Amino acid sequence: MGKRIRAKISGVACYVPPRVVTNKDFEKIVDTTDEWIRTRTGIVERHFVDPGVATSHLATEAARRLLAARQVDPKEIEMIIVATVTPDMMFPATACLVQDRLGATNAWGFDLSGACSGFVYALTVGAQMVGAGTHRKVLVIGSDVMSSIINFKDRATCVLFGDAAGAVLVEPAESDAEGILDFQHDVDGSGGVFLYMPAGGSLHPPSHETVDKAMHYVHQEGQQVFKYAVRRMAEVACRLLERNGYTSQDLKLVVPHQANLRIIRAMQERLGVEDSKIVVNIDRYGNTTAATIPLGLDEAVRDGRLHKGDLVLLVAVGAGYTTGGILMRWAY
Ligand code: UT7
Repeated sequence: MGKRIRAKISGVACYVPPRVVTNKDFEKIVDTTDEWIRTRTGIVERHFVDPGVATSHLATEAARRLLAARQVDPKEIEMIIVATVTPDMMFPATACLVQDRLGATNAWGFDLSGACSGFVYALTVGAQMVGAGTHRKVLVIGSDVMSSIINFKDRATCVLFGDAAGAVLVEPAESDAEGILDFQHDVDGSGGVFLYMPAGGSLHPPSHETVDKAMHYVHQEGQQVFKYAVRRMAEVACRLLERNGYTSQDLKLVVPHQANLRIIRAMQERLGVEDSKIVVNIDRYGNTTAATIPLGLDEAVRDGRLHKGDLVLLVAVGAGYTTGGILMRWAY
């Protein structure tokens, strides 16, 4: 084995569908209030696709914007990983649809099902392929159309989610002083029962019964997931810092998964960092599952909050349970 190569993110872009749905809009369809949603979750509005727009469409648009901004020809892309829990269909993989629409004729790829940790898992996989020296341009995309699997009669879940896609380009770093330093991922499958979509797979194939029993929608025991997320977000963040000889004071930016503002603030308190170091955009997008972290990164870059050499932490907890964190030095 040759020397491993450090991988870096060399570009980021996102796509959010234009239709905005506010908390006030939800007041008209379920027994809820703008006040409850704001105070319990931090969400003010979210974007939903129009009928006929799928995960692959959002993913392709995010990827197109990324490649245009970086002036990369789609034919240079060698691999496409799409993190999603809302693929267009069971198969083919969304990555294949994206590959075709982009004209990325030299790429292979697949979908990765890691729920809210999907993007960090996919980024780690992409970085490993670059690290092994076998790939030089990997497209990592987080894309979800959560509006396709939420029950608009269940007030406890329907107000939480949004639709969006974000994409990053992963390439070899110029030196060991930049790029992805470390990752920490784990799974606790015993938490699977607290956040899942019961039907549509091989266990409960679609039938009149699965439709009648609302089994094709997100089911969540919110408090269980909340407690787990609060504990694990902070644990993973601290472990990554410690293991690499850093403290939270060394961090320039934390990009946490956006599931609930209270989860983010609890993690922030345990880390002991000020507001300016935490990316928060849940107010405008809700929980977009695999897209939250690239959405946050894109916004941070556009707002001039990220500079070459900055220490950045990505951290997520989601269905599975899945947990993931990535520590990196921003490379541009
Ligand atoms: O990204 C994937 C991971 N997902 C998460 O991280 C989500 C984690 N969980 C959460 O963010 C929170 O648990 C929720 C936002 C889902 C719920 O907040 P909560 O503070 O845990 O509320 P709760 O479930 O304990 O419900 C409190 C009350 C209940 O009423 P009662 O039983 O006290 O009368 C609910 O029925 O709030 C009620 N409620 C609502 N009221 C108005 C639940 N949803 C709503 C709603 N509007 N939309």
